[in-house]
Amino acid sequence: MAGAPLKLGSMVSFCIVLYAVYYRNRDGGDERLSPVHQQLLALERASVVGAGARQPRVALGYGACHDLFVNATQLLDARRLRHAPQHYNDISNKDQFLESFAYFFKHGAAAERFVSNSELYDDLIEQALKLPDSRWALGGNAPLMARRFHMEGWKVLLAAKMSKKLKTYIPEEISIVGGEANEEVKDDVHMILEYKADEKFGSLTAPRANRYIVHNDENNPLLSSLEKFGEYIPEFNPNLLVISGLQMMDNYPFKKDGRDLRAERLELVKQQIVSQPASTLTHFEMASYVDLELLLHLTTKVLPFVDSVGMNEQELSNLYRVLEFGQVSVVTDSNPRVAAALDQMRNTFQLIRNKNQQHGSNRRLTRMHVHTLAYQAILTVRGSNWKRTAAATAKASLTAHRYVCNSQNIALEKSKLLLDDSFSTTTDNDNTSRVFFEPTKPVSCWDELLDNEQVEICVAPVLICTEAQLTAGAGDNISAAGLVLQVEK
Ligand SMILES: *[C@@H]1O[C@H](CO)[C@@H](O)[C@H](O)[C@H]1NC(C)=O
Ligand SMILES: *[C@@H]1O[C@H](CO)[C@@H](O)[C@H](O)[C@H]1NC(C)=O
Ligand SMILES: *[C@@H]1O[C@H](CO)[C@@H](O)[C@H](O)[C@H]1NC(C)=O
Repeated sequence: MAGAPLKLGSMVSFCIVLYAVYYRNRDGGDERLSPVHQQLLALERASVVGAGARQPRVALGYGACHDLFVNATQLLDARRLRHAPQHYNDISNKDQFLESFAYFFKHGAAAERFVSNSELYDDLIEQALKLPDSRWALGGNAPLMARRFHMEGWKVLLAAKMSKKLKTYIPEEISIVGGEANEEVKDDVHMILEYKADEKFGSLTAPRANRYIVHNDENNPLLSSLEKFGEYIPEFNPNLLVISGLQMMDNYPFKKDGRDLRAERLELVKQQIVSQPASTLTHFEMASYVDLELLLHLTTKVLPFVDSVGMNEQELSNLYRVLEFGQVSVVTDSNPRVAAALDQMRNTFQLIRNKNQQHGSNRRLTRMHVHTLAYQAILTVRGSNWKRTAAATAKASLTAHRYVCNSQNIALEKSKLLLDDSFSTTTDNDNTSRVFFEPTKPVSCWDELLDNEQVEICVAPVLICTEAQLTAGAGDNISAAGLVLQVEK
């Protein structure tokens, strides 16, 4: 299947309208912005579920941390960079740290790395705390998604071991399980180095805003809240179970006395997923992984058993390469064309569906959400339990802007569209299918036949925030916002 031309299923319905061209900017402003904004809002609003609906329930694992946000170019001195930028699986000294950061900065690619040298790590935190713009926040995929679901009116169960102080960042209505009643917990600290588009680091320029994350975790790699979580799930009886935070196991030294602790922990994750009743939908949130062994574990212990997966463009490429070639991809295009991303989505979908069969799973993958800087894409199987795909895609798109600009209101003067007036739906040369992007109908949806199933694919442009305030955690808000509308209420 590798490299061979893609076999596309038939696309049944298409909305092709040609007048997008008229919205072209003549005087510098993009006239498409206002209609796109209005229509996305209308779609989002039309799908709000009224009062009286049964409150949906979500359970999310695993882990939490204390995030320290730092201005990357203030913390790091480019003059200290003695070697060419390059990537390392884990960081053990200052030179590697600089080279690794520079590597991802140059590509504008999101990354998360384990720092195996605790002394270096503590030192970096001390330096970071001296900078005027450094700030603390709640971190971890599970708690950030949990807060989003809570904000959307869901009942939430969160699996995490956290200190009393960190718990104050979480609304009281969210039930947290994981630690013992009076246990002293030392929170894992993640350092999030942020940079803006066009920022300079020595001779390098960042092609887009993004973040580079480092950690030196002790609690999270062990998924220490897993067992307690398992005790509470049956009674909580969630509509949706979200699995995230497994990337904290990346490059963690797990093999001790002939045991592979990580494989054992992941086996328990698998048991936790497969023990859910059919009425509970399951979602896996991908992340930045570099450890091939861990990625391979995901393809046998997690991916075959979930209904849905969510990820950004880097994570999609990485997952695709692991499934298809058994290889890790460290960075890819940080702003891929729609056609390329959709092809990877289709391939990845089919590869995971094969895994469903291979592993005799009771579940089939029926949903994929890919978020990129320029657009959101959601694929769902027709007739599956996922609802309102177009509205979910619109909501994900609006959330991307709101989160990055850190404002509920969307200011058009701080927005731009990177999507062209039309896009190909595949890079397959034999198929010239194009979708014309119509500003008054910004979410384009069509059907295809994939793995012998009718699937719906929706693509929505993102009103990209040109004055980025926040980047880390955006994916969590976006993925959760996408899921919120898709679970039947
Ligand atoms: C190209 O896509 C169209 C639908 O848009 C489909 O009918 C056709 O079979 C596809 N062609 C190839 C060669 O895959
Ligand atoms: C970091 O600080 C520099 C000034 O030292 C500033 O120009 C840049 O915008 C800041 N970056 C972020 C992500 O805040
Ligand atoms: C992201 O989610 C948090 C809840 O975790 C919420 O407070 C925040 O407003 C959200 N951001 C946006 C812009 O939607």
